[in-house]
Amino acid sequence: MSAEGSYQISTVASSVQHEIQRLQGQVALFWEKEVKHYVEFGLRDGHSVVELGAGPGYVTENILRQFPHTRAVAVEIDPLLADYAREHTLSSFGDRCEILDGSIMATGLPDDTFDFAVTRLVLEHLPDPVSAVREVKRILKPGGTAVFVDNDFEMHIMTYPSIPELRLLYEAYCESRIAEGGSPRLGRQLPSVLRQGGFAEIDFEVICAHSDLLGDEMFLKSEGIGIPTKLVKDGFLPSKTLAQIAYAWRNMIRHEQNSILRQLYLAAGRK
Ligand SMILES: C[S@@+](CC[C@H](N)C(=O)[O-])C[C@H]1O[C@@H](n2cnc3c(N)ncnc32)[C@H](O)[C@@H]1O
Repeated sequence: MSAEGSYQISTVASSVQHEIQRLQGQVALFWEKEVKHYVEFGLRDGHSVVELGAGPGYVTENILRQFPHTRAVAVEIDPLLADYAREHTLSSFGDRCEILDGSIMATGLPDDTFDFAVTRLVLEHLPDPVSAVREVKRILKPGGTAVFVDNDFEMHIMTYPSIPELRLLYEAYCESRIAEGGSPRLGRQLPSVLRQGGFAEIDFEVICAHSDLLGDEMFLKSEGIGIPTKLVKDGFLPSKTLAQIAYAWRNMIRHEQNSILRQLYLAAGRK
């Protein structure tokens, strides 16, 4: 089985290890706000939870740590990441956690199994997100809740002082992901995708991380140069533009009143 769509860790960025660290940083950046919404949508200690497209496993790890009576199944299509989750991230939760090699498109899991499902930064990379949502609904118990979290690269990192060239970076990123079958502006469509996937009682939130509250370092860990470097290598972004962004970014970080802002889009639905 191999990942289809616009996210393969071995090709999306210039270094697999740095990309795993970036994914970890991206979980840390939003977690405090994100988990409050998971609870508001219905997550409870003691639930059976499934995460689809779990990558290195940092979201499942946070859920297992914060909710000590939950049991979790993490499904991941890339064997490298499933092994990473087994060996590093989730190894200390042995009896409460299972990591399965598999696709969100056909998990092979039984009908009506889980109380709560998380699919984070996965739908935006899939050619057929609605079918993925239907599969998540199938494995939820009646009355269970699924949350889907994605980006919308129309509005990604914003800074003060402003870096206008970031827009060129995000346009290049979108072009590259779309060429591989992804939908990098899916955030705004999430409620409709959930409705088409058969969910009811749909809710939608936009959450943001701000450097005045979290510090610049959290953003530096969750961004990095790996994906932009790959965009240059693949011909989507001129190297001159990346150099301009790097220069402007350094100046922005040094500015006394600098701000960095980023948002994520969350939709939840009930079966
Ligand atoms: C951007 S990463 C997000 C990882 C994790 N959910 C997180 O938030 O840190 C996207 C993940 O989805 C996985 N993925 C892509 N297509 C998949 C599929 N069809 N089934 C399961 N996982 C898939 C990728 O291998 C990768 O681990």
